[in-house]
Amino acid sequence: QPVCACDLMLFGASGDLAQRKLFPALYQLDRAGLLASDSRVLAIARRDTDTAALRKALLARLEEQIPEPEFDATVAQGFVSRVEYLELDFTDTDGFLVLNDWRHPGNQLIVYMATPPSMYGVIARNLRAGGCCTERTRVVVEKPIGHDLESSKVINDELAEVYRESQLFRIDHYLGKETVQNLIALRFANNLFASQWDQNHISHVEITVAESMGIEGRWGYFDQAGQIRDMIQNHLLQLLCLIAMDPPSDLSADSIRDEKVKVLKALKRITPDMMAEYVVRGQYTSGTSEGKPVPGYLDEEGANKASETETFVALKAEIDNWRWSGVPFYIRTGKRLPEKMSQIIIHFKPAPHYIFDPDQKHLANNKLIIRLQPDEGMALKILTKDQGLDKGMRLRQGPLELTFSETFDTDRIPDAYERLLWEIMRGNQYLFVRRDEVEHAWRWVDQIIRNWHDSGEPPKRYAAGTWGPVASIAMITRDGRSWYEDV
Ligand code: BG6
Repeated sequence: QPVCACDLMLFGASGDLAQRKLFPALYQLDRAGLLASDSRVLAIARRDTDTAALRKALLARLEEQIPEPEFDATVAQGFVSRVEYLELDFTDTDGFLVLNDWRHPGNQLIVYMATPPSMYGVIARNLRAGGCCTERTRVVVEKPIGHDLESSKVINDELAEVYRESQLFRIDHYLGKETVQNLIALRFANNLFASQWDQNHISHVEITVAESMGIEGRWGYFDQAGQIRDMIQNHLLQLLCLIAMDPPSDLSADSIRDEKVKVLKALKRITPDMMAEYVVRGQYTSGTSEGKPVPGYLDEEGANKASETETFVALKAEIDNWRWSGVPFYIRTGKRLPEKMSQIIIHFKPAPHYIFDPDQKHLANNKLIIRLQPDEGMALKILTKDQGLDKGMRLRQGPLELTFSETFDTDRIPDAYERLLWEIMRGNQYLFVRRDEVEHAWRWVDQIIRNWHDSGEPPKRYAAGTWGPVASIAMITRDGRSWYEDV
């Protein structure tokens, strides 16, 4: 059912995010009948164009972007007719006066800032000066919220000057992924796992978020950020929180976010003397991707040849609390790895007393594999007896398998942005990041970045198309473990 009619002001409408993600997601919501008939979008950017030209270009792009069975020309036509264009310099306070005339006072106002974060404060203040800032306005902002704790505080303070925390929707698009939300269902709807989810039963946890893509045209942004700011500070730490948090007392936004914050606060600080053992940073050199030769990071378009920015990070995180004491979380993420794949592996401890073939002891622990993408689903690796008279009590490890697309016969999994936009329209903040989460995540990541700078050590090289520097393998083998490979 559609929620109330919404007026969405989309700042940065000609940017990459709006074009690649937001317009297609809004189209899909419209196709699903989830946009109220008088919901509208005001696309705002500096580009010199007009509504007619924008609609024409948008229609053509949607036709290109939306896969054939999902593209419905009538819906697309209807959708683009909801969109109007406003050319605006975001620093021009007087220019904002027209915004108040555009909006329908009865509609829910949503302000989406798909702009560089340095613009958030400026836009917020200009909206207020233009009389376009009501108690009911919802404001959506994208990462990165700053590049360290201090700069994130400045941005958050600027937003807080104009809006209350309950009006702010900070996006981490990983929280909108179907399988990421499933972590909450898996953990808190299945009593089977509740009693096993701690240091008594789990030996370690692996989180891998791998991309085969390189930097491709985003060098300017990426080189300032690096993989730790781009991926670990937000997506990977959010995944870690969802795996590690205590059960919330209900599904309300603050109950969930309170529990996530406790995890972030309990992360053990990584001091300079721990760096060699706990953190590996890498940068890709030339190699192959999907069978084709690709350039190294320093040879990408627009690259500064002396850059020491990392495109890969592997680290060992520890959580200093009762539940997780002594359980390492091995995390790795990188660009130009062999495939696009995100998964979490929970390694359970072996049974306390082992009575089978000593040669098979390495098999003797259950694993829960949570595949976030692609091929979304879960597999619980359990041990059974090998079949056949001649096998005696030889063990075999096999999966209890749940592949969502097969089991639930789902025709399509909605993109993260569809879900996030839908929750914003419903005013539900549980998939959005609260200010203190952002700040605690920065506090933890900042000390690692500081240690890197102080040591002056350059990133370790790895060839594109490999699983990162060999040091990341050494990091985990030192602990007598290995990165999980499904063979
Ligand atoms: C973004 C990062 O937040 O997430 C990108 O800025 C990265 O560098 C992307 O490629 C990965 O998202 P997904 O949904 O494709 O896994």
